[in-house]
This record gives sequence, C-alpha cells and structure tokens, in this order.
Amino acid sequence: MKHWKLGTALLLACALCAGLAFAQDDLMTLNSKAMGPHERPLVVFTHNKHSANIECITCHHDFDNYFNLKSSEGLLCSECHKVVPDAKNKVSLTAAFHKQCKDCHNKAAIKGNPKGPVMCGDCHVTPERLPEVLPEAKNMAKPKGK
Ligand code: HEC
Ligand code: HEC
Ligand code: HEC
Ligand code: HEC
Repeated sequence: MKHWKLGTALLLACALCAGLAFAQDDLMTLNSKAMGPHERPLVVFTHNKHSANIECITCHHDFDNYFNLKSSEGLLCSECHKVVPDAKNKVSLTAAFHKQCKDCHNKAAIKGNPKGPVMCGDCHVTPERLPEVLPEAKNMAKPKGK
C-alpha cells in the first residue's frame, strides 16, 4: 500500500514535470539565420498551441507544378522563401512570415477571435514586455539579441 502511494506520487510528479517541459518547448523563438541580425525584437511563437487547432500543412506547405498543396513539414520557411526572392519563389522570407501569420489573425478577428496579434509591437515584443503579453514566457530565458 505504502509503495503504491509512493508510485502514485512519483507518477504525479513526473506528469507535472513533463507538463512543465512541454510548456517550455512550446515557446519557439523565431530567428531565421538568413535574415542576419534582426532590426526588431525576436518573435516568440506558441508552436504547440497553434498546432493543436491548426493542421500542420496549413503552415508547412509546398505546391507542385499544378499548384496542388503538398506538405513541407520539417523544412524551415527559408529553404524555399529567400530574403531576396527569386523567380522560383516570388514570396520573400519576411513577407512569407508576415502574410501567413497576419492573414490568419485577421481572418480569426473577423470570425470574432481578436487574440491573434496584427500590430508590429504585439509580435515583435521586447523581452521586458514579454511576460505580460505571453504569461507562458515568464520562466523562459530572455530571447537573445534581436
Ligand atoms: C503576426 C506577427 C507579426 C506582426 C504583427 C509583425 N511581424 Fe514582423 N515578423 C514576424 C515574424 C514571425 C518574422 C520572422 C522572424 C524570423 O524568422 O526571424 C518577422 C520579421 C520581420 C522583419 C525582418 C527581421 C528583422 O527584425 O529585421 C522585420 C524588419 C519586421 N518583421 C518588421 C515588422 C513591422 C515593421 C511590423 C508592423 C508593420 C511587423 N513586423 C509586424 C512576425 C510579425
Ligand atoms: C500556425 C503555423 C504552424 C502550424 C499549424 C505548425 N507549424 Fe511547425 N512551424 C511553424 C513555424 C513558423 C516554424 C518555424 C519555421 C522557421 O523558422 O523557418 C515551425 C517549425 C517547425 C519545426 C522545426 C523545424 C526546425 O528545423 O527547427 C517542426 C519539426 C515543425 N514545425 C513541425 C510541425 C508539425 C508536425 C505540425 C503539426 C502537428 C506543425 N509544425 C504545425 C509554423 C507552424
Ligand atoms: C518546400 C518549399 C516551401 C516551404 C518550406 C514553405 N513555402 Fe511558402 N510557398 C511555397 C511556394 C512554392 C509558394 C508559392 C510562391 C509563388 O507564388 O511564387 C509559397 C507561398 C507562400 C505564401 C503566399 C501564398 C499564401 O499561402 O498566402 C506564404 C504567405 C508563404 N508561402 C508562407 C510560408 C511560411 C510562413 C513558411 C514556413 C512555415 C513557408 N511558406 C514554407 C513553398 C514553400
Ligand atoms: C491559421 C491561423 C494562424 C496562423 C497561420 C498563425 N496564427 Fe497566431 N493565432 C491564431 C489564433 C486563432 C490565435 C488566438 C488563439 C487564442 O484564442 O488564444 C493566435 C494567437 C497568437 C498569439 C497570441 C499569443 C498566443 O499564442 O495565444 C501570437 C503571439 C501569435 N498568434 C503569433 C503568430 C505568429 C508569429 C504566426 C506566424 C509564424 C502565427 N501566429 C500564425 C491563428 C493563427
């Protein structure tokens, strides 16, 4: 009986620590190397929270010659979207991020959920303001640099 209780306590503790680890992993600091040093504060993105309600392929897309949708899961956006766009892909890296993030937030706002930011400073949040805007980020190491 005693052992059983100890086992349960350990299980609970593990579930808790796993939960915490998960919360940390969820926060993805977007920092495309191709962009070089950033002008704006780095964007902290709740990847898992977004993936819970949105299909992977909505963001991790690719298109064949007939513009049919394919998956590009596992690839960075910068593999296809260049800082200076080329003939192969006309959407620049910054435009790709901005359009994908903001188009969806705008659509969600029209449908009645205004929680997806569309203003510069609400995505490019300064490290000082981050815990206020994104409470999950309270315990995370401050994003380095810009
Ligand atoms: C919905 C979130 C969002 C909003 C709103 C937003 N951005 Fe961004 N922005 C991003 C993301 C994500 C990146 C790509 C960051 C990366 O991968 O390194 C980016 C990249 C950039 C970059 C290139 C990297 C750098 O910092 O030099 C600039 C400049 C920029 N944004 C400026 C702006 C300005 C100005 C506005 C307002 C007009 C704005 N952004 C609004 C999310 C956003
Ligand atoms: C709302 C948009 C969105 C959704 C939904 C989404 N992702 Fe992502 N994911 C991103 C962005 C943005 C990045 C950062 C890409 C970059 O920096 O170029 C990323 C990064 C990743 C990475 C890391 C790539 C690397 O090398 O670091 C993996 C793996 C990944 N996503 C898998 C998934 C899977 C699996 C799903 C579905 C369960 C999913 N994503 C859903 C937007 C999304
Ligand atoms: C395997 C290649 C590939 C990857 C990786 C990729 N894209 Fe794209 N994306 C494309 C192609 C091809 C187009 C069409 C480009 C054109 O019209 O010239 C496109 C178009 C877009 C567009 C404009 C069309 C639309 O859907 O609104 C946005 C925005 C975009 N991508 C965002 C992203 C973001 C953000 C990522 C990373 C999460 C990403 N893409 C990753 C290939 C890719
Ligand atoms: C396909 C739709 C979709 C895409 C693409 C998307 N978002 Fe969101 N985002 C949402 C919705 C919906 C919410 C509001 C979630 C809620 O109700 O709490 C949100 C909320 C947010 C928030 C507020 C804090 C949070 O996580 O709840 C941030 C910051 C954010 N998004 C950043 C981004 C960035 C950066 C990108 C692009 C890399 C992006 N989003 C792409 C739908 C999207």
